[in-house]
Amino acid sequence: MDKLIIQGGKKLEGEINISGAKNSALPILFATMLTDADVVLENVPKLMDIYGAISIIEYLGKKVVWLGNTLKIVSSKSIPKEGKYVVAPYDLIRKMRASFLISGVLLAKNKNIKVALPGGCAIGVRPVDIHISAFEQLGCKHYLQEGYVVFNREKLNSAKVKFKYPSVGATENVMLLASGIDGETIIENAAQEPEIVDLANFLKKIGVKIVGDGSNKISIYGAKKFNNTKIVHRIIPDRIETGTYVIAVSATKGEVILKNVIFQHNKTLIKKLKSCGIKIFLENNSIYIKSTKKIKSKNIVTSPYPGFPTDLQAQFMVLMSLSKGKSVIKETVFENRFVHAAELQRMGANIRIKGNSAYIYGVEKLIGCPVMVSDLRAGAALVIAGLAAEGKTIINRIYHLDRGYEMLEQKLSKLGANIKRIK
Ligand code: EPZ
Repeated sequence: MDKLIIQGGKKLEGEINISGAKNSALPILFATMLTDADVVLENVPKLMDIYGAISIIEYLGKKVVWLGNTLKIVSSKSIPKEGKYVVAPYDLIRKMRASFLISGVLLAKNKNIKVALPGGCAIGVRPVDIHISAFEQLGCKHYLQEGYVVFNREKLNSAKVKFKYPSVGATENVMLLASGIDGETIIENAAQEPEIVDLANFLKKIGVKIVGDGSNKISIYGAKKFNNTKIVHRIIPDRIETGTYVIAVSATKGEVILKNVIFQHNKTLIKKLKSCGIKIFLENNSIYIKSTKKIKSKNIVTSPYPGFPTDLQAQFMVLMSLSKGKSVIKETVFENRFVHAAELQRMGANIRIKGNSAYIYGVEKLIGCPVMVSDLRAGAALVIAGLAAEGKTIINRIYHLDRGYEMLEQKLSKLGANIKRIK
C-alpha cells in the first residue's frame, strides 16, 4: 500500500490552483443519467470517488471520456435490467456512500429498481432513512432484500417533504427524484450547501425548474421532457480542498495564494481563522493567506452550511494543537468523527475527548511519527500535522486521501513541502 513520507518543518509558500469540488461533481455525474443529451462537465477532479461514480453511470449505459479535467458524457446503450428491475449492484455502490444518489435518478425514470444499501464508515453509521422516508412520500414503496433497497412505484406524486435534519445527500436525492415529478415538490429544512446550488444549476440546464436552492426551502418542478441538446456545465471549486490548504498554510506559518476559489463558500472558516490571528485577503477568485507565529486558540461547533464544516474539523484540530491556549471543538454532524485525535496525540498533541467535544491544549510543537489514516479528512489533518511537525511523518492508508485530494503531493511540493509517495 502507498504511503506518504513528509519531512516536516517547512513553511508553505507560493501559489496553487484549487480543483473542482468532488461533492458537487458526484451528484452531477449521477444527474447526467436523467438526460440523453451529450454533457460536457468541466473542472472535474481526477479522484477515486469520481472514478467510482463514472463506473456506475457507465454500467447504466453512459460512455465517459476524459479530456484533461473535462468529461464528455454520451448515452451509448440502454439501461440493463434484471427482469423488471434496474439494478445498481453492490460491487459498484459499496465503495462510496454518495452512490446511493443513483436511487433518486433511477426512480425518476424507472418504476422498479434495486439499489445496494451503502454501509456505515469510519465517521459514523450514516443511515439513509431521511432519503427513504421522502421517497415514500413521493410515491415510491420500498423494502429491504439481501442488502438491497427494492423500490417499486406506479405514478410519482409531488408533495411537501419536511426533513428532520438538513441532510446534504437526502436533499440531493430528492431533487434528483423530483426532477421527474410533475408539479411542485417542496423540501423543507433542506441542506443549503453550495454543492446543492451547483446541482440545481445543472438540473436547470436539463429543463427542471428549481426555486430556493441555497435556502432551507427548495421547490422543484420536474421536467415533462428533459432537454436533449448539448449541455455544458463547470463544477464549482472545492471549498473543502480550499479550506484544507488555508489551514495547512496557517499551521506551517506560510504565505500562499490559492487561485480558482469562491471565497464566499469559506466565509465561516475565514472569519474564524482571522480571529486566530491569521492574515487573509480576498480578491476576485483568490485567497491570500499569511500566517502568524502566535496562533490564538478559538472554539468551533460544526454544523450544516453556512456553519463551520465538519469536513474541516479534523484539519482545524491540528491548528488548535499548535495554538496558544485551550480550545473546544464540538462535532454535531457525525457521531464518530474524532478518530484522528488519537493519531495527533501520538505526534505530541494534547487532546481530551468527552462525548462529542474535543478539548485541545496547545503545545509548542508536534513531532513526526508513523500514523494511520481513518477517513479522508482525518488524512488531510495528518498531512497538515506532518507538514508542521518536527522530523519525519509516515502516513499509512493514504487511499483515503486519493478519494478526495487531487494531486496532493504535487500541489504541496509546489508550495515547498518535502513530501513524497512511496509504493
Ligand atoms: C455529505 O455527506 C458529504 N458527502 C460529506 O463529505 C459531508 O461530511 C456531509 O455531507 C456533511 O457536510 C458528499 O457530499 C458526497 P448528510 P452526506 O446526509 O450527504 C445523518 C467528505 O469527506 N443522516 O448531510 O452523507 C448522518 O448520519 C464527506 O467529503 C441521517 O440520520 O451527509 C449524519 O450524521 C464525508 N439520515 C448527518 O445526517 C439520513 O438519511 C449529516 O449527513 C441522512 C443523513
